[in-house]
Amino acid sequence: MKRIGVLTSGGDSPGMNAAVRAVVRKALYEGMEVYGINYGFAGLVAGDIRKLTRRDVGDIIQRGGTFLYSARYPQFATGEGQLKGIEQLNRFGIEGLVVVGGDGSYRGAYALTKRGYPCIGLPGTIDNDIPGTDYTIGFDTAINTVLDALDRIRDTATSHVRTFVIEVMGRDAGDIALWAGVASGAEQIIIPEKGFDITGVADNIREGREKGKKHTIIILAEGVMDGKEFAEKLDAIDNFHVRVTVLGHVQRGGSPTARDRVLASQFGAGAVEYLKADKGGLCLGLRNEKIVTHDIVDTLDNMKHKPNLDLYKLNKEISS
Ligand code: F6P
Repeated sequence: MKRIGVLTSGGDSPGMNAAVRAVVRKALYEGMEVYGINYGFAGLVAGDIRKLTRRDVGDIIQRGGTFLYSARYPQFATGEGQLKGIEQLNRFGIEGLVVVGGDGSYRGAYALTKRGYPCIGLPGTIDNDIPGTDYTIGFDTAINTVLDALDRIRDTATSHVRTFVIEVMGRDAGDIALWAGVASGAEQIIIPEKGFDITGVADNIREGREKGKKHTIIILAEGVMDGKEFAEKLDAIDNFHVRVTVLGHVQRGGSPTARDRVLASQFGAGAVEYLKADKGGLCLGLRNEKIVTHDIVDTLDNMKHKPNLDLYKLNKEISS
């Protein structure tokens, strides 16, 4: 292939810019052309497409967000949207497409692949919930952002001998809660992959107090329930002085960590190598610190993301 496209889609994640930069720079290095598509699949269907130069991706490796903008565009699930998208790609002579995004974005790449259009999916979401990879672009930055907030909250929690419920992102997966929980020494981690018993949570707080703990930090993944509801359940059992912090979209912003920039660069350059060799229908991942590829159809049809539940066990063992 000589001319490829790139788009970022769904919830943005720190490192998406680094991925696009790598796609552009590697493609130029290989003598190929790259077209940037604004606003994800919405921009694809609308034909919001332009040629990218080396300079367009200068000074962005360190920036959060995505300079190509992003959008959630459920209409791309329809045949009509997909055919319009392919028509736009053909109109610009774009022979293959790199899609950086999460689950919904992978679905778009999957649909194009099934229609015979070569796509490469790169995992970009703070949630880390993509099958076929141990880590997604943006996850490391997000957990460090959460960790910074947790360290601050612990200061005030201790001063007031309070229990805090911190609601973190992760619509379907507990990865952010697990990693930030272990890294911050949180007393409890509540994730969708494991149930919880509110009486057990309350007992754990009381036991902590009896042992002389001055604070209780409970990390709650948003996929379980919202923080306010969880706190009300706890306060109904006992007066724990529960305070709730919903970290929200602060978790999606900020300058990417070195790890996310490197991962994004490896993924971006890797995608170009496959398209250059006329290979599409793939998604890239990191497995045991090595870049791997999977068939995107097989990945979405048959693979499931599994968070590292050893961390859940570990936290139970060392947090009390
Ligand atoms: O997909 C990543 C994510 O950050 C989820 O954790 C969260 O539930 C969702 O996006 C929020 O999406 P939006 O910004 O569209 O409200």
